[in-house]
Amino acid sequence: MRPLIATHCGSGSDKKMRDVAEKSAAAGMKVLRRGGSALDAVEEAIVVLEDDPRTNTGIGARRRVDGTVQMDAALMDSRMNIGGVAAIMNVRNPIRVARLVMDSPHVLLAGDGAILFARQHGVPFFDPSNKESEEKWRDALAKIESGDVPEWAAKWRGFRFRDTVGAVALDKNGDFAAGSSTGGHPYMLPGRVGDSPIVGAGLYAGPRGAVIATGVGEEIIRVVLSKAVYDHIESKHTAMNACISGIKLFTDTVPVGVIAVDRKGWGECCNRDMAWAALPRR
Ligand code: GLY
Repeated sequence: MRPLIATHCGSGSDKKMRDVAEKSAAAGMKVLRRGGSALDAVEEAIVVLEDDPRTNTGIGARRRVDGTVQMDAALMDSRMNIGGVAAIMNVRNPIRVARLVMDSPHVLLAGDGAILFARQHGVPFFDPSNKESEEKWRDALAKIESGDVPEWAAKWRGFRFRDTVGAVALDKNGDFAAGSSTGGHPYMLPGRVGDSPIVGAGLYAGPRGAVIATGVGEEIIRVVLSKAVYDHIESKHTAMNACISGIKLFTDTVPVGVIAVDRKGWGECCNRDMAWAALPRR
């Protein structure tokens, strides 16, 4: 089987960030070329995205309205291995903790329990906030104060959204994997969990392909987007056509994007700008 990988920097990410998506895809492809699993490839690809301060997860992740950084991340493969964390704080790479959860009896750990689990598995304290995340938080607070937020109430119309990162891959054994990681979006309450660690909504992998969603988590959860796109692939649509069908489930006031791989190639569709990359190139 010819290995494939696709990565993205989130709906609303500036196309100038394509270098990060490419670096991430290259890191994942390195794993695949030496015979590694799609799961390992996706994990390594996500770490590259989390470590870049321009993406909205890991270093530089968005803050909640109370100033805290809480992140969601998850991995799933076509053998039904699943691991995720929700509203986790003070770790550099939430995807690494998601992978540890996969190897535990559970599939999803949240909040303080996820942090405790991470520490018990040797994941050190790391404050992912930086100057940019502080500026964005202050800006969000000012908008709340002035009543200018209703981006949220106005269903995010015109809002520049910088969202979840994600990766999907196919390995030489024919297994698929999907992974996502996010700092969420502005105007979030502490404890809020988006689509990214929710199987079927933010991610899905099965014997025919793998899918990752990006955009407004609450809306993505409502349409169970990743499973909807996967179902299109299963009913013989190409990954590209399946992604396009998935985005058609939303009005254009809701920023949303999706990437997918099937056995033959990858697909991508987003109703905003989105930096993404795929290997090998067509
Ligand atoms: N799609 C990421 C989130 O809404 O949290």
